[in-house]
Amino acid sequence: MDYFTESRSVEAVNTRIGADADPRLAHVMARLVAHLHAFVKDVALTQDEWAAAIGFLTRTGQICDGNRQEFILLSDVLGVSMLVDAINNRRPTGATENTVLGPFHVDGVPEYPMGASITKDGGVETCVFEGRITDLDGTPLEGVRIDVWSDNEDGFYDVQQPGVQPAHNNRGVFITGPDGRYSFRGIKPVSYPIPDDGPVGQLLAQLGRHPWRPAHMHFIVSRDGFDTVVTHTFVAGDGYLTSDAVFGVKETLVAPFDPVEGGETKWRSTFDFVLNRRVTG
Ligand code: BEZ
Ligand code: FE
Repeated sequence: MDYFTESRSVEAVNTRIGADADPRLAHVMARLVAHLHAFVKDVALTQDEWAAAIGFLTRTGQICDGNRQEFILLSDVLGVSMLVDAINNRRPTGATENTVLGPFHVDGVPEYPMGASITKDGGVETCVFEGRITDLDGTPLEGVRIDVWSDNEDGFYDVQQPGVQPAHNNRGVFITGPDGRYSFRGIKPVSYPIPDDGPVGQLLAQLGRHPWRPAHMHFIVSRDGFDTVVTHTFVAGDGYLTSDAVFGVKETLVAPFDPVEGGETKWRSTFDFVLNRRVTG
């Protein structure tokens, strides 16, 4: 191999990969180098732009801690999280689609009986969430675990406001019975901005992009033998449905939120989940 030159830059780097390197790592890194060099050549990156990019990535790392993951947020706003999810969770038509997990999921949330309320801060726009969980043939599925979480009416998750909101506010786990039905009470979620006080928020502002997500309820729907569905239902009519900061909206995930006259709750959102049997072997 010759010395490094502009025209043979990719070969100069990739021929250094050793024969003993893990084959998948070698392939992924060689392709990354090829795309990265093509990008640098395409935009004719200046020294100042290169330094600005290094500074941006440095600040992105520096703001990360046990609760804040700015690199995932960067992946989210660049559409990479949704793309990786799409490639790895292709499902037959009719099976419920995935979307981003987001940073606000919590393990160890209490399990409640069907019909229970997950709202502990006296939210006013009360809403019942209900529906059926079936396989692709329409057979109701028993023993499905439904893990749900949403923001409160101020647009914050409990973990964003420790000491302000009760722990596990607007979170719960439910298990379906033989009828495959689920039902729980919460509040009608509201749209909210992703954390935008760090480098990712600054980048969005510089690009003239807003940080808002349309209102949604998060769900992880899982049962042995079926693909786990990590998803949201989105509030139909929300003004941010077509401009979600993290590209999470899919048409099939937009759910009705209907007013209920004289009911126990003010709103009702009905959404059925269809699970895809996992292919084994
Ligand atoms: C969320 O929906 O909780 C979320 C998803 C991606 C980035 C930030 C928040
Ligand atoms: Fe969310």
